[in-house]
Amino acid sequence: MARTALLNVMVQAAIKAGRSLVRDFGEVENLQVSRKGPGDFVSAADRRAEEIVRGELTKARPTFGLVMEESGEIEGTDGQHRWHIDPLDGTTNFLHGIPIFATSIALERNGEIVAGVIYNPVMDELYTAERGRGAFMNDRRLRVAGRRELPEMLFGTGLPFIGKGDHGRTLRELRYIMPEVSGIRRAGAAALDLAWVASGRLDAYWERDLNSWDIAAGILMVREAGGFVSDLQGKNKMLESGDIVVGNEDAHKQLLRLLKQAEVPNQD
Ligand code: IPD
Ligand code: CA
Ligand code: CA
Repeated sequence: MARTALLNVMVQAAIKAGRSLVRDFGEVENLQVSRKGPGDFVSAADRRAEEIVRGELTKARPTFGLVMEESGEIEGTDGQHRWHIDPLDGTTNFLHGIPIFATSIALERNGEIVAGVIYNPVMDELYTAERGRGAFMNDRRLRVAGRRELPEMLFGTGLPFIGKGDHGRTLRELRYIMPEVSGIRRAGAAALDLAWVASGRLDAYWERDLNSWDIAAGILMVREAGGFVSDLQGKNKMLESGDIVVGNEDAHKQLLRLLKQAEVPNQD
């Protein structure tokens, strides 16, 4: 599979950041036992990874804008292109020594996502997608899962935590969905949840209150793997709302239906 020059730049940035993250991840294990814990160290690892990604991308395309989780937004002079960067998606996993985390980079051109890279450096899984050119994990072309029946399906989601989101609504949604499917996973890294739908590991995934850097690359990944992507209303406003529902055609439709049902609190 031949990658364009732009995708190569993104891949190199993600791999370089991944090397730094893996080095720091090794240290995190030693810090678990200390009373203070690895919190500050992880923030520094996160910032280091972002600096690497930003440096690589800016060196290659100095006029593009940047939307970064840690350093905020920098307007580009070119006015057409913006990078969306999450240097470390899955921070809580990283902090706890769980090797499910990734660097996510997306390129927006005139309001559309045209390229995405999601890299889990521990598993050495590199997910790439370009608009109209398919999605890949390393060199393997990706295709969403073919399962059609809910009882066979494995769903992913993100659960709100302390100080975040509507916990009651989440419980209601789970109450509707749990009895219908073979399982629900909360893996802890939105970008990887999306990559895993693209690769068919998960049949569908939904979450609310996310940011563009969490989902921009994954949205393209799922679409290029033949999946469906929408917000909770079935519309295309994922980046504006931060809400997302993805899956193969059937899983996506069924999940939207179940989420709709869960909107009305029942009385029992
Ligand atoms: C978080 C992860 C998590 C999701 C959170 C995100 P971070 O990103 O993607 O799975 O549930 O809402 O904020 O903080 O690890 O970059
Ligand atoms: Ca994130
Ligand atoms: Ca992050």
